[in-house]
Amino acid sequence: MNKDIYVLGIETSCDETAASVVKNGTEIISNVVASQIESHKRFGGVVPEIASRHHVEQITIVIEEALAQANLEPKQLSAVAVTEGPGLVGALLVGVNAAKAFAFAHQLPIVGVHHIAGHIYANRLEQEMEFPLLALVISGGHTELVYMKEHGDFEVIGETRDDAAGEAYDKVARTLNLPYPGGPHIDRLAHESDGAVEFPRVWLEEGSYDFSFSGLKSSVLNYMHNAAQRGETVPPEHVAAGFQNSVVEVVTAKTLRAATQYKVKQVIAAGGVAANKGLRTSLTDTFKEKGLPFYIPSLKLCTDNAAMIAAAGTVMFEKGHRGTMAMNGRPGMAMASWN
Ligand code: KG4
Ligand code: ZN
Repeated sequence: MNKDIYVLGIETSCDETAASVVKNGTEIISNVVASQIESHKRFGGVVPEIASRHHVEQITIVIEEALAQANLEPKQLSAVAVTEGPGLVGALLVGVNAAKAFAFAHQLPIVGVHHIAGHIYANRLEQEMEFPLLALVISGGHTELVYMKEHGDFEVIGETRDDAAGEAYDKVARTLNLPYPGGPHIDRLAHESDGAVEFPRVWLEEGSYDFSFSGLKSSVLNYMHNAAQRGETVPPEHVAAGFQNSVVEVVTAKTLRAATQYKVKQVIAAGGVAANKGLRTSLTDTFKEKGLPFYIPSLKLCTDNAAMIAAAGTVMFEKGHRGTMAMNGRPGMAMASWN
């Protein structure tokens, strides 16, 4: 009988300090996330220096808590998986150095994981992956369509050329005087609305799977500015609904077109914006109609966590990937296949 594989995952790429133990790449044994949202709220966004400092304070506590909750000794682990990039350099370095120190102290192999691969593998903690597969990763830092022929085989077929979807949500929210992070507030307002301002849909060149959200964001800002100059008051829910309609329509249409063209067997969504009610409904209804299996991990696994890093790291570990003590945080890390 094969021995069970327990992997400790560590994630510090942005504003969550997280550690988790995952069994065989599919089963969460513990999943600890220390969020810093409260500290960044008053600045209206993530402040990199504050993020790094919080990670330094929290990382040891969070790792110890993940092991304690899993009731495991370090020697029972098979490997340590850590987010190597992309992300904020100072934030990544905390996780990478903690992982290296832990691995060195306990003589464990270390595996460096791409953050987006982690988001995709969050799905495997709830649902077996079926290939070929299309993943929509949509969050505060990323908006990408990734095609996978098999485990660890990533082809980025579309990505944002400017702002990530969540970033646009947060900026529009700020102009509507909503607190950070604004995505959930816009989502709520959009659902309460009895009307919607018409904003443009940004499709880019015909056939492109790329996204662009900064033009849409500017349209919203201009609309608010012009209304203010005319002394008009605009119902914020109409603006929220109009903005959300544009994002949801374009993201749904591009995901559907890619899924159809690449003839995938499964479509998954991940990342903080996948929590959006309007987007979830639109994607779920669209793929139901097409008879294509579509999954979104539960909310806790959609947003940044370390279980997803351990899940992806386990597959990399099984494929023989090993990092070295020279590993560094890679803020601009490109997505590479694991073969
Ligand atoms: O995945 P995540 O926690 O962190 C990143 O890796 O970026 O995503 C955070 C982003 C924020 O921009 C937040 O506003 C957005 O996800 N978000 C939402 C919703 N919930 C969170 N955006 C739209 N609708 C939501 N319900
Ligand atoms: Zn993320």
